[in-house]
Amino acid sequence: TLTPTAELIARVVAEGTALPSFNVIGLEHAEAIAAGATAANSPALLQISENAIAFRGSPEPLLAACREIARSGSTPLGIHLDHIENEELVEDILDRAGEFGVGSVMFDASKRDYADNVAATRRVVERAHALGVWVEAELGQIGGKDGAHAPGVRTDPSEAARFVEQTGVDGLAVAVGSSHAMRSRSAELDIDLIRQLAAAVPVPLVLHGSSGVSDPVIATAVAAGIRKVNVGTALNIAATGVLRGSLNEHPDAVDPRIYTRDARAAMMELVRAFCGLVTEPGPA
Ligand code: G3H
Ligand code: ZN
Repeated sequence: TLTPTAELIARVVAEGTALPSFNVIGLEHAEAIAAGATAANSPALLQISENAIAFRGSPEPLLAACREIARSGSTPLGIHLDHIENEELVEDILDRAGEFGVGSVMFDASKRDYADNVAATRRVVERAHALGVWVEAELGQIGGKDGAHAPGVRTDPSEAARFVEQTGVDGLAVAVGSSHAMRSRSAELDIDLIRQLAAAVPVPLVLHGSSGVSDPVIATAVAAGIRKVNVGTALNIAATGVLRGSLNEHPDAVDPRIYTRDARAAMMELVRAFCGLVTEPGPA
């Protein structure tokens, strides 16, 4: 069921759990996410990044596919735009948010300095809120231009609280030790900082780069206050490994259905596992 992100977030906030959020690159990703979330009896977000839009050439095909997959399924699914740095692109998609069922956007001005990040994010928030769209933004290094997923960077709780107040954002991506596109689940998170941020910041906290974080550390981070868990790379690692095996196993295959079927199933299993992990109330 296509569901507004604000509703999905309100539910996990009330439960003290997190919203599992997965990046969609192609149709198989969207199908695997819907099937995995359904199998786990969990809500989920289908996230489309600016990079994925660039790869496809335009946002419409992925948005329409996600909308139809969300509409036709039984589990609550939201549609989110992820890491959009281009203000014009956000505006274009916001203009069509109703048509495409977009319930949230992450506007990422984290490469700009603090004042520019605030000003640009506030513009996006005003436009999005007029349409009922939930907005996530990103804050990494104090005062600075290193985003929340750059290794070694940390978000300062009082700056984060000020940023939320100045921009009016609904969710905040924070730098607590994870980084994007890790190939092993070995990142150490600063759990104490997550607790401090959760206490200081009045909106839900988002963990990016969750592919690099082990199951027990993700569960602890959710218990400490993370309310949205973003996963991309882990699905691609699983799918690509299986795809290589399938191609070797079926050297004569030319029909993509033969060699993509198991890759999609592998993504689905991983989605099911992540959903189960983050929607369970974790250790105190
Ligand atoms: O915004 C997307 C996530 O932060 C994904 O990060 O690909 O490292 O899991 P990941
Ligand atoms: Zn991210």
